[in-house]
Amino acid sequence: MSYTTLISQDHAGVRRLTIDRADKLNALNRQVLTELASAVQQARHDDSVRVLVLAGAGEKAFVAGADIAEMADLDPAQAQDFARQGQALMRAIETLGKPVIARIQGYALGGGLELAMACHLRIASMHTRLGQPEINLGLVPGFGGTQRLSRLCGRGAALELCLLGAPIDAARAQALGLLTRVVEPEQLDAEVERVAQQLARSAPIALRHILASVIEGGECALDQALLLEQQAFALCFASADMREGTRAFIERRKAVFRGA
Ligand code: COA
Repeated sequence: MSYTTLISQDHAGVRRLTIDRADKLNALNRQVLTELASAVQQARHDDSVRVLVLAGAGEKAFVAGADIAEMADLDPAQAQDFARQGQALMRAIETLGKPVIARIQGYALGGGLELAMACHLRIASMHTRLGQPEINLGLVPGFGGTQRLSRLCGRGAALELCLLGAPIDAARAQALGLLTRVVEPEQLDAEVERVAQQLARSAPIALRHILASVIEGGECALDQALLLEQQAFALCFASADMREGTRAFIERRKAVFRGA
């Protein structure tokens, strides 16, 4: 499939999708949302893809938000439809069943931070600035920001970022638990690649169950969530990869996981 706003590259089980609108700081317009949704769906069904990396083109921004020029003239019904499309994309990323890493440089604002928060790991350059500045436009975050920020960093941080609208730096974001890892800009690609390759060599079925247990389990009552974890644990015992992993440990060799 060919895209006009995305670049898709595969390397050793890792698919990197780069939003390619550097002149607009990779702002999320309808075209980007549609193409990303289609690319995420493709990655879901392609067994050769073990890990997804989301990136933004250029040096200045991961993504500077939803496209303000496109949003400016929407009526309320169109705005709800736009939010629905954005939220559906974020949820599709979050529930992909494979690890998704956000590679963050420069600005990750509004929809950009919301996109990063839908990913499972966030690796950033130390010069990154993150925030939910929608209040400065007379707006509310609409792609899940109020909810994922609360869940990742707590209500206090969510209220601070959304009410005040000021971006925070990478060190503060890491202290809040918003960023997984912060590195020098010139180390960003190497660090993303290192983490992605580790995940690509891990057991895909166990990874999928960990993602479901943490993400879906986090939305349930504890007893229900523990049952979910129990079932995930048991299901791993039906996989050849679990037998390979335990046998490799006993035989003192490196396990080779095949996703079965
Ligand atoms: N939507 C649409 N276009 C955007 C955009 C967005 N969210 N963010 C940046 N752009 C565009 C600018 O309009 C500009 O386009 P132009 O060159 O055709 O005029 C281009 O990207 C470069 O942005 P510019 O503002 O000139 O860069 P800067 O370095 O001066 O400022 C930011 C960078 C990120 C501080 C500033 O672009 C900004 O505040 N963007 C909006 C952030 C925001 O509110 N996001 C939430 C949206 S809901």
